[in-house]
Amino acid sequence: QIDWKMLADRAWAARKNAYAPYSKFFVGAALATESGEIFTGCNVENASYGLTICAERSAIFAMVAGGANRPRAIAIYTPTSKPTAPCGACRQVLREFGRDLMVLSFCEGGGELTTSLASLLPEAFGPENLG
Ligand code: THU
Repeated sequence: QIDWKMLADRAWAARKNAYAPYSKFFVGAALATESGEIFTGCNVENASYGLTICAERSAIFAMVAGGANRPRAIAIYTPTSKPTAPCGACRQVLREFGRDLMVLSFCEGGGELTTSLASLLPEAFGPENLG
């Protein structure tokens, strides 16, 4: 019952807020929580390049800052010809909150990739492994 069209529309809109003067690679993400709230994110680059944060992590941080912590689905838009899956760092940050997260990647070229975080990050280390 995820409204993927709506979530993809929100990710598409969020890409416009991306701060990507260095890569010019404008990424948008939108996540839906278990309770149906929507949070969006975009990549935020830095003159000290390595401090850049991806759209996916930005969306997770917006969710936590907004008082929620149970993401159910995330849609990610990249300006590419083929859909791209989240980077390794983002997979681990998504995993902290979204063990059963559903992931939709879509792109300028029109293709889509539907997958799950469990597929993207098998045998993951997570909060349940501590203490
Ligand atoms: N980026 C994202 O925001 N998400 C991804 O899934 C891949 C990479 C950003 C980071 C950087 O601002 C730019 O895209 C190029 O790597």
